Amino acid sequence: MPIERKDDMSQPSKKSPSKGLRRGRRKPNDRHQLQVEAPLASESRFYGQGLPGVNTETLTGKLIVLEGADGSGRSTQIRKLVDWLEGNGHAAVQVGIKRSTLVSEELERAQEGNILSHTTMSLFYATDFADQLENIIIPSLSAGFIVIADRYIYTLMARDWVRGMNRQWVTNLYGMALIPDAVFYLNVSPTQLIQRNLSKNKTLDYWESGMDVGLSRDIFDSFVEYQKRMKKAFMSMQRTYRFQVIDGEQSSDAVYDELIRGVNQAIFGA
Ligand SMILES: Nc1ncnc2c1ncn2[C@@H]1O[C@H](COP(=O)(O)OP(=O)(O)OP(=O)(O)O)[C@@H](O)[C@H]1O
Ligand SMILES: [Mg+2]
Repeated sequence: MPIERKDDMSQPSKKSPSKGLRRGRRKPNDRHQLQVEAPLASESRFYGQGLPGVNTETLTGKLIVLEGADGSGRSTQIRKLVDWLEGNGHAAVQVGIKRSTLVSEELERAQEGNILSHTTMSLFYATDFADQLENIIIPSLSAGFIVIADRYIYTLMARDWVRGMNRQWVTNLYGMALIPDAVFYLNVSPTQLIQRNLSKNKTLDYWESGMDVGLSRDIFDSFVEYQKRMKKAFMSMQRTYRFQVIDGEQSSDAVYDELIRGVNQAIFGA
């Protein structure tokens, strides 16, 4: 299993694929009394060229993406979402950035050294994504799992754009990606993010503060400016990539209510 990392969290479910798509017989185990049925059939497609040799018609599972800045509450919500899905008999698999067995450790080391160009770093992240796409996401969807992605290509694209990389080149690069069944973006202001990150980690992350971009020598100023730029990049993708924006500054329960409604709609059409 991949090593737990700051960037995300991913653990395959223990449940068998065959259990994943059967009709939910148990009553929802929490206050969310929404109907849980077998996932609707949908035609999975790639954004661009995709991966060779993949028959998208066989991908019967569902892909749900949570996007948002560091400290926006993704892990908090994913924990609840996975409990809810599994409590209702649907197997869930989690993936996230810097989780591949192929390059995650090398990527970590490269970041520590901080000597790679933006393009090389971008390709490193793309490799990490491609490895998970090929070896976790696609096989899990083929087996009928519900895949929950703690960040997806949108964070990677936004990071590249903010670093001045050619938009079309980046967009083409991620043409390999599958189009998710739903994408949720947790919208939290940079100042709120600072508070949450400081209370959680006691520090701000060098990369999530954009310190490599040279916006400011002060990590707090850099964080605010970088996160503003990231948000602008996300908002520029909202329509094209069909993000559902959730106000992440609401209480955790209120965020969860909105998320569950969206997930239920995306997966079960309920
Ligand atoms: N809706 C909320 N309101 C207030 N605080 C929250 C909310 N959701 C999460 N938090 C708190 O904010 C901090 C960050 O939450 P969480 O770890 O879920 O975010 P994350 O997006 O996964 O962060 P990271 O990028 O570090 O993985 C935690 O201390 C968590 O308890
Ligand atoms: Mg997290």
